[in-house]
Amino acid sequence: MALYSDKVMDHFQNPRNVGKIEDADGIGEVGNAKCGDIMRMYIKVDDGVITDCKFNTFGCGSAIATSSMATELIKGKPIEEALELSNKAVVEALDGLPAYKLHCSVLAEEAVKAAVKDYYDKNGIAYDPEQFKNLEDCEHCHE
Ligand code: FES
Repeated sequence: MALYSDKVMDHFQNPRNVGKIEDADGIGEVGNAKCGDIMRMYIKVDDGVITDCKFNTFGCGSAIATSSMATELIKGKPIEEALELSNKAVVEALDGLPAYKLHCSVLAEEAVKAAVKDYYDKNGIAYDPEQFKNLEDCEHCHE
C-alpha cells in the first residue's frame, strides 16, 4: 500500500483555499510543538456561518493536506460545527495518514479553533475557555 492516500496526495499537490483573507473576522495561528511548523487560518463569518476560510502554512505535506481538507470541511458550516472538527475527522476524510504523521493533522484542528477564538474575542462573544485550553495565543496574528 502507498504511504499516502490519493486524497492526501491530491490535497498536498492542489491545496484548496490557500492564501490570506485581508478582512478576516478571525485569524488563528498555531505552532506544532513536535516539529516547529506553523499554521495560520483565516475565517470570514456571517450570521454565525463560516462563509470563507483560507490558510497558510510553514509545514510539511501532511500539514498542507490536512489544513486544505479542514477548510473544505468547515466552509459553509455554522461556527459551532467548525469547533467540533477533530483532527481525526480530517484524517478520516483524507483516507488516513501514517501514524507518525498524525501530529501534523493537529495543526489544522488547532488553527481552526484559534481562528474561532479570535473571532469570539473580537466580537465580545462569551465562550467556555475550557474549549480552547490547549491553544497558545500568538501575538503575530494581531499585528
Ligand atoms: Fe511539522 Fe508535519 S512535520 S506539521
